[in-house]
Amino acid sequence: MIRIEGLKKEYIGKNTRHIALNGIDLEIKSGEIFGIIGKSGAGKSTLIRCLNLLEQPTEGTIIINDDDLTKKSADALRKARQKIGMIFQHFNLLSSRTVHDNVAFPLELQHIAKTTIHEKVTQLLDLVGLSQKAQSYPDELSGGQKQRVGIARALASDPIALLCDEATSALDPETTDQILKLLKRLNKELGITIVLITHEMDVIRKICDKVAIIDQGIIQEVGTVTELFLNPKTKIAKNFTENSMHLKLPEDIEQKLFDNPYHSENLSPVIKLTFLGDAITTPVIAELSRKFNVACNIIQANIERVQSQSVGVTICHMQGEKKSWEDALTYLNNQDLKMEVIGYAAANAF
Ligand SMILES: Nc1ncnc2c1ncn2[C@@H]1O[C@H](COP(=O)(O)OP(=O)(O)OP(=O)(O)O)[C@@H](O)[C@H]1O
Ligand SMILES: [Mg+2]
Repeated sequence: MIRIEGLKKEYIGKNTRHIALNGIDLEIKSGEIFGIIGKSGAGKSTLIRCLNLLEQPTEGTIIINDDDLTKKSADALRKARQKIGMIFQHFNLLSSRTVHDNVAFPLELQHIAKTTIHEKVTQLLDLVGLSQKAQSYPDELSGGQKQRVGIARALASDPIALLCDEATSALDPETTDQILKLLKRLNKELGITIVLITHEMDVIRKICDKVAIIDQGIIQEVGTVTELFLNPKTKIAKNFTENSMHLKLPEDIEQKLFDNPYHSENLSPVIKLTFLGDAITTPVIAELSRKFNVACNIIQANIERVQSQSVGVTICHMQGEKKSWEDALTYLNNQDLKMEVIGYAAANAF
């Protein structure tokens, strides 16, 4: 288990002082794939570098399996670090070494016997599907292949955790999916804990179990990925999930929304329905017209996979008598789905 307590990091320059992390508490369970998402400059890289003490925290503790890394001597820390692998956005491979020798590098530093190293490297390259490229040089590889080398190298010391800093940000969408699938497989097969930092919610949605949102050096929201998609609490969480569900309302539609029904006559609610799993097939919208005589004009709808379940979102404009849509809203509030009124619009608005 990884426990971060009261983590603070200040960067102090000649005439500047910047607080990059401002009191972070997080618990990451063994075997979890834990995502940390935030905008550029939020403090993600600082946080992941503090996790293995590549960056010295200003305050706070980093506890890995009951072992406080911040209290270790330099020697003990070097040993502890071998149990935490790391991969990077730009792979950080040694260009003058072959794929085989890149993966061998951390083992050579530990003065392990050559034959043992060769056996281990062969196994690792097989694990990441790169056996054919053992004698190639990094320049001869695609981005996805380079990241596979990075992953194999990170696994060389049999780490308990793998830290990934924007590991797929330099890759195209298809290659990103392949690398994410590989990470998921390694998590399952090796039981390795994965901490993954990204600015893309799609990455979180595809492989993470839990997620923390970081902004301005503070954790804004933390929970399971499904929870976050069903019930984002903060504005930043809403933004991230809406983008990932491709549900950002176009500006011209946004402009037609009022924040209350009294703004002018005949305004009725625009609602957002979020469904999980089987509930998607429930013909809720059809029921509204049958039970309450409320017509629903669908403005936007989408279904995406979140943690191997389907999450569907429908945004629609309810139209009918005020009493009818009020009853319909009460009914929706009691259904097995999440309903949110996002505004009110005139009958002919869309
Ligand atoms: N060595 C440093 N010295 C001074 N300030 C730094 C240093 N490293 C990072 N910062 C500042 O700390 C803040 C957090 O930086 P960090 O690199 O952790 O952000 P990030 O979330 O990883 O962003 P990105 O998505 O762009 O990689 C930024 O405002 C950055 O300018
Ligand atoms: Mg970064």
